[in-house]
Amino acid sequence: MHLSSPKSDLVIQQGAKILKLGGLVVFPTETVYGLGADATNEAAVKRLYKVKSRPKSHPVIVHISSLEGLFDWAINIPDYVLELCKQFWPGPLTVILNRSKLAADFITGGQDTVAIRVPRNESALKLLKQFENIGGNGVVAPSANLFGAVSPTSYAAAKQAIGQRLSRLDLILKGGSCEIGIESTILDCTGLSPSILRPGAITSTQLEISLGVSLKKYAGNIIRNNVRFSGQLPTHYSPKAKVFLSGKPCMGDGFIALNSIKTPEGAIRLISPKTHLDYARLLYFGLRKADKLKLNNIFAIPPEGDEIAIAITDRLTKASGNIKF
Ligand code: TXA
Ligand code: MG
Repeated sequence: MHLSSPKSDLVIQQGAKILKLGGLVVFPTETVYGLGADATNEAAVKRLYKVKSRPKSHPVIVHISSLEGLFDWAINIPDYVLELCKQFWPGPLTVILNRSKLAADFITGGQDTVAIRVPRNESALKLLKQFENIGGNGVVAPSANLFGAVSPTSYAAAKQAIGQRLSRLDLILKGGSCEIGIESTILDCTGLSPSILRPGAITSTQLEISLGVSLKKYAGNIIRNNVRFSGQLPTHYSPKAKVFLSGKPCMGDGFIALNSIKTPEGAIRLISPKTHLDYARLLYFGLRKADKLKLNNIFAIPPEGDEIAIAITDRLTKASGNIKF
C-alpha cells in the first residue's frame, strides 16, 4: 500500500491502472472517502468486501464519470431520473434503478436494482475518467471504513480506518477534507415516484422543486420489498463511544452541538459547528475524535429543521443504535 497526492496526473493514472488490474484505490469524494474497485471485476469486489468486513448481501454504489454511463448500468430509466441527474450530477445524489446485465449479483447483493452516482470531487472525477479512458467502466466505492463504523472524511481518517488492511499494490489517494462530510442522498427511482432511502446534502425540498411533485417524508428505516439499504442494522456510522441524543453529559463525556449551545460543565466539546452545513462536515470528525480521546460517551444535540438537519439527525440516530424498525 502506498500513499500519494492526487494533484499529479501521474498519480491519477497510476490509480486507474491499479483499479484496472484488480487492485483497490481509496479516493476522496465530496461526501466521504470511498474504497474503490472495478465494478465488473468479481475478484476485486470480493476482496473489497473482505477488506471492509462487509456482508455479501449489502449492495455497493457504482461510481461513473458522467450521465452517459447510466445507460450501461440501468434499464427502464424514468424520465424524471434523467432530469434529476442533469441537475444534481456531478454531486451527492445516488439513484437506485433496475439493473442492466452489467450490474452483476456480486455488486447488487443479488437484488434486481443497482445504485449509481457521479461524484463531483475533482480527483474522484479524474480517476473515474482515466479509468474509463483505459477501458474500465464503473467503480464501486463504499465508504472507506470497516462495516458499521464511522465513514472517513479526511485522508488521515481513511488511512487509519482501512490502511492496514490494504495490500502493497493498492493505493490511497491523498486528498483534502471532504466538502460535505456525510454520505450521498440515496433515492429509490424504481417506482412511479421516487423516495428517499438515505437523506443527505441533496434535500427533499431540492428534489421536490426539481421534480415538481412532493415526496413522501423520509420515514427512517423501512424495509421495502426486501430491499436492503443503509442503516438497517442496529448500529451504523458508530464510533466506539456510546452516542446519546438526549440527556446530560457527565464529567468527561463528549459533547456535540451547534456553536450557539453552551458546553455543559465538565463535558468535552468535540466540535462547534456554526451552521448546519458545518455540522454535517464536522460530524464524523467529532465522532472519531471521541474515540481518539478514548471517551466512553458522546452526548449530541441534533440540529433542528427540515434540510440537511434531517440527514445529520439520521446519522446520529443510527450511531446511537437507537433505531426503530
Ligand atoms: O456518498 C456516498 O454515497 C459514499 C461515497 C464514497 O460515494 N458511498 C457510500 O457507500 O456511502 P456505502 O456503501 O457506504 O453506502 C451505500 C449504501 C449502502 O448502505 C447500501 O445499502 C445502499 O447504498 N445501496 C446500494 N445499492 C443499493 C440498492 N440496489 N438498493 C438499495 N440500497 C442500495
Ligand atoms: Mg458506508
